[in-house]
Amino acid sequence: MKVKQPRTWPVRLWLWQCSSTILIHELPLHVSVKGKEWYQADEVAQTYDSKRFSRGGQLIDDREKRAVLDALGPVDGRNILEIACGTGRFTIMLANRGANITAIDISAAMLAEGRKKAKQTGIAEQIDWLRGDAARLPFPDNYFDAVFAMRFFHLADTPATFLTEMARVSNNIIFFDTFNERSTRVVYNWLLPMGSRLYSQTQVEQLLEQAGLSLIDSAHDFLLPYGFYRKIPNGLAQSFRDVDRTLGEHDFAEELASVSYWAAIVNTPATIADQVNDTVTAND
Ligand SMILES: C[S@@+](CC[C@H](N)C(=O)[O-])C[C@H]1O[C@@H](n2cnc3c(N)ncnc32)[C@H](O)[C@@H]1O
Repeated sequence: MKVKQPRTWPVRLWLWQCSSTILIHELPLHVSVKGKEWYQADEVAQTYDSKRFSRGGQLIDDREKRAVLDALGPVDGRNILEIACGTGRFTIMLANRGANITAIDISAAMLAEGRKKAKQTGIAEQIDWLRGDAARLPFPDNYFDAVFAMRFFHLADTPATFLTEMARVSNNIIFFDTFNERSTRVVYNWLLPMGSRLYSQTQVEQLLEQAGLSLIDSAHDFLLPYGFYRKIPNGLAQSFRDVDRTLGEHDFAEELASVSYWAAIVNTPATIADQVNDTVTAND
């Protein structure tokens, strides 16, 4: 029997969202390169930070770090799990602030970069780095005070599985971000090597409900796409960022923002009772 070969799509794209070139040859149309595999490569891991968070990308790094700190509150002495920690941008920041942090990622190469940075910062001892799949977290129920994942859900084929696992091992806070389906990302999403899963607010709310979580806060940001900021020098990027933030204050911005940050808490009898009380008070 003749085996049907996948149609190939000769692609040679200099992906403009990266500051250097990524060459894709003969990518079969039906195959998308998933985040699990993509980040295994040493070259991808070694250039991950510099490609995304230098130049105007520093503003993105700053915003994401602020989002994490806002969601987690004081972290000193708290037991925190970071899912898909990558090169440890947030891991190291939280360890520096006194958190007991465990960081899990499926890529040995990304973890190696994180370990290297932690060693340089002198806080290597404070972090438990773990190689593993976020779909099967090797921890008991309710083990952590907070569990978070940044830039992960756009790679997730089965977001419900990941969120349910995160909820299972947290006794309180869950935090994550998503890229949004009504943002400028739609325009160039098809160019990205992995593509990105884009979410609507309703989808996120459904995922939270299925995972037994209640949304406590959300923020929506970046009308201009991340790729744009990465391309320009920091000084110039700051001017665009100021405009972006001013526009972001308008009602329409929530719908069109590229990124949303979602903070939720695990439903327990106590949190459910609180919510009922809030609703009753609001209706009085
Ligand atoms: C875009 S990077 C984000 C890294 C980091 N959170 C950050 O914001 O810099 C995505 C990360 O997800 C990791 N990843 C992908 N699939 C995973 C899985 N199933 N379990 C754990 N990590 C995974 C990749 O190895 C990669 O480090």
